[in-house]
Amino acid sequence: MSRLSHHAAVVTGAGAGIGRAIALRLAGEGARVVVNDLDAASADETVAMIAAAGGTALAAQGDVSVEADVDRAFATCEQAWGGCSLLVNNAGVVQQVRLAEMAPDDWDRMIAVHLRGCFLGCRRAIGPMLAAGSGAIVNIASQLGQIGGIELSHYSAAKAGIIGLTKSLAREVSAAGVRVNAVAPGPINTELVLALSDDWRKAKAAELPLGHFGAPEDVAATAAFLASDDAKIYVGQTLGPNSGDVML
Ligand SMILES: NC(=O)c1ccc[n+]([C@@H]2O[C@H](COP(=O)([O-])OP(=O)(O)OC[C@H]3O[C@@H](n4cnc5c(N)ncnc54)[C@H](O)[C@@H]3O)[C@@H](O)[C@H]2O)c1
Repeated sequence: MSRLSHHAAVVTGAGAGIGRAIALRLAGEGARVVVNDLDAASADETVAMIAAAGGTALAAQGDVSVEADVDRAFATCEQAWGGCSLLVNNAGVVQQVRLAEMAPDDWDRMIAVHLRGCFLGCRRAIGPMLAAGSGAIVNIASQLGQIGGIELSHYSAAKAGIIGLTKSLAREVSAAGVRVNAVAPGPINTELVLALSDDWRKAKAAELPLGHFGAPEDVAATAAFLASDDAKIYVGQTLGPNSGDVML
């Protein structure tokens, strides 16, 4: 497949789970990929997986909430391939705590990783994309940004913020050739969700019209679509690979 062979991409949080699946899928469709992750060994492992599959990737360790680290990921892409035409803001963390017990530091860290991280990535990507007159940004939000979640007010607020950021930036830049969209996954089988109790996962799966969780590859397929010219009239949208949990 070569649907994405024109792209040089940065994917954040691509050392595990959904981000890794996205990096593998983009590379499988011909994109050259910078694999960012907080954890250097995980990023290296994704790069090795891409190379083993015949793709092209480079690692860039860094924290998406730190401007210099974000800059390093883009500089890696630009130095290797002359620019960055595709950004997937995926890095994220989850913490369950009721708002009454939530420390201000818990709130600040959640907003920093998700919303500031997404802002910093978009801000760094957008200038060169506008200069080139083309580019695509895919922001990984969550259905909890649409419906909220108990013990997840900081996470849900950050994800709702990402959806708002996506729509606003899309309005600013789409006429100049840059498309910005979001993905709001439902429950997806990653380490994070597999770590929850069997009882919780059984009860949640029973609520889903499809009856089961999605896989990271299902989200990756959605991100690859939004990155591709197949999605050329998708602007400011939030697509929902969510097993039918949320229907908008
Ligand atoms: N798994 C789900 O059910 C689900 C549902 C909806 C949305 N999401 C979102 O999808 C994204 C990926 O989630 P996942 O389930 O694959 O999680 P995961 O924990 O499996 O992977 C997240 C990756 O991001 C990295 N990371 C964390 N903080 C970082 C930072 N500050 N800078 C750079 N990298 C960082 C981690 O090291 C890890 O490799 C997140 O934004 C998450 O909120 C997940």
